[in-house]
Amino acid sequence: MFYITRRERFSAAHKLWNQSLSPSENEAIFDKCALLNYHGHNYELFVTVKGSIDPISGYVMDTKLLKKIINDAIIAKVDHRNLNVDVDFLNGVNTTSENLLFCFWNELKPLIDNDMRKLYKLQLFETENNIAEYYGE
Ligand code: NI
Repeated sequence: MFYITRRERFSAAHKLWNQSLSPSENEAIFDKCALLNYHGHNYELFVTVKGSIDPISGYVMDTKLLKKIINDAIIAKVDHRNLNVDVDFLNGVNTTSENLLFCFWNELKPLIDNDMRKLYKLQLFETENNIAEYYGE
């Protein structure tokens, strides 16, 4: 098995906010991350696909195709947006890195998987020091 990874970047605004909690409860948990008027990050998303080598192309997956899938399904919808209000598949979601990865996974998985390859891992750098990973379980 081989693993290929494509990095994509996006810039977006968000705040951490659980809609089932009161404002003071949100502020107690999320502190500055819950500031009312949002803040921004330069995110990096790493998408890793696992598969065997296609004997014709020599690829697990053409990275041009992987780039297009990630851009069409995720980046075009999140880049320069407010993640809390602008993104259809994040409606009502508290936009932690963990929740973003869960939602990104559900968008990407059906577009990547086939008999030869599977989405294996997503990694999201919210900052260079704060990194979340998801393997679909
Ligand atoms: Ni933040």
